[in-house]
Amino acid sequence: MSGKYEQILQAAIRSGYLGEECPLAAFVDTSRLEETIASLHRAFPKHFAHTFAAKANTMSHALEFVKEHGMGCEVASPGELEQALRAGFAPGQIVYDEPAKTAGMLARVLELGTGLNIDNFQEFERVQALMVNRDSRSRIGFRINPQVGAGNISAMSTATTTSKFGVALEDEGNRIAILTAYRDNTWLTALHSHVGSQGCSLDLMTAGIRKVVDLAEEINSGVGRQQVEVIDIGGGLPVNFDSEEMRPTFAEFAAKLQDAVPELFSGRYTVKTEFGRSVFAKSGFIASRIEYTKRSGGRRIAISHAGAQIATRTVFMPDHWKLRVSVFDSSGRAKNGAAVEQDIAGPLCFAGDLVATARKLPEIEPGDYVVLHDTGAYYFSNPFYYNALCAPAVYAVTTGRSTHLDFSVWRRKQSVDDMLAVIG
Ligand SMILES: Cc1ncc(COP(=O)(O)O)c(C=O)c1O
Repeated sequence: MSGKYEQILQAAIRSGYLGEECPLAAFVDTSRLEETIASLHRAFPKHFAHTFAAKANTMSHALEFVKEHGMGCEVASPGELEQALRAGFAPGQIVYDEPAKTAGMLARVLELGTGLNIDNFQEFERVQALMVNRDSRSRIGFRINPQVGAGNISAMSTATTTSKFGVALEDEGNRIAILTAYRDNTWLTALHSHVGSQGCSLDLMTAGIRKVVDLAEEINSGVGRQQVEVIDIGGGLPVNFDSEEMRPTFAEFAAKLQDAVPELFSGRYTVKTEFGRSVFAKSGFIASRIEYTKRSGGRRIAISHAGAQIATRTVFMPDHWKLRVSVFDSSGRAKNGAAVEQDIAGPLCFAGDLVATARKLPEIEPGDYVVLHDTGAYYFSNPFYYNALCAPAVYAVTTGRSTHLDFSVWRRKQSVDDMLAVIG
């Protein structure tokens, strides 16, 4: 496992992408990313249109890359929409999902013709008013909360009884209200659901999708024709953060769905997906130089440059977002010494800024590098500006085809001026 990381780190150190003056950088292994996206396309039939959840990695190069590899884009904010349009996605390849859409954004989305998932009945009234005398190419549908329960991270579970997302299907009156809305508005041709991200089992995800497909069938038989043509099953395939291997795979999820929701595979519906983390996480990693090591009350602490500014979830919710860490020496060779318990701290000014605690690793020394694995999604792509730290450079690297590595810059290290301009 460490072979590939050694190869990348050694080349990055030799090229000056990592070193005393550049102690923190992130890397995207585009060969692995390509293979992951290919495995997604292979796992599902052709009538599945895969969109990438832009929130998982909103960087322009990331969106361009997934587009070039046959994906559309799911966006959930005005900024994500702009980034997707700039990356070259056609409006019909984009799905708009923001929970707090303003009337202005709804008008823009309908004008552009991107897909639109309506979150609630008040938003529906706005869309209805906008659709009077308008001919939009948007595929429009409700986001349904199938209320099938929580996974093991409550903050990531979106199909609980009281979730803030979508129309709660089992709440009194809602099913009838949805059936009536579709009966009276022929431009409602889609249904959407996203059961949760990370921590949801395939069984839970499948149970939620089953309920949404049942609803689609009920709508269609009620109106006597196939009005609902698009089923958007969301994302949320969990990522294992404890080994290099991808588990579960897209193929395993597809097999489960085929069993439980065969209608999706019949070709009667266009099926959209919105995977984010499972597409990108395992192709990215963060590397940080260790600046100092110290002992405090018997505790060993290595002070790195990677903290909550790029590993925000791990620092604030360490029990749910534990990352694999490996240690390399100053020239990028994997360290194999006896394991000792150490904490790896970030540079931010609060005591909890730790990316790993009591981790058994070869003894870390100043000048070594630590690698935080599986951080291609929701980590370095979403910088947090506590302590006014600059976002690190992100390099794409092709691996696998030969021993030669090609680096390209996906994001330059942010300058202090640019960072201060963001802060205002
Ligand atoms: C509506 C919607 N779709 C897709 C996703 C992507 O989820 P994941 O990155 O877990 O695949 C999210 C994540 O929050 C979401 O809210």
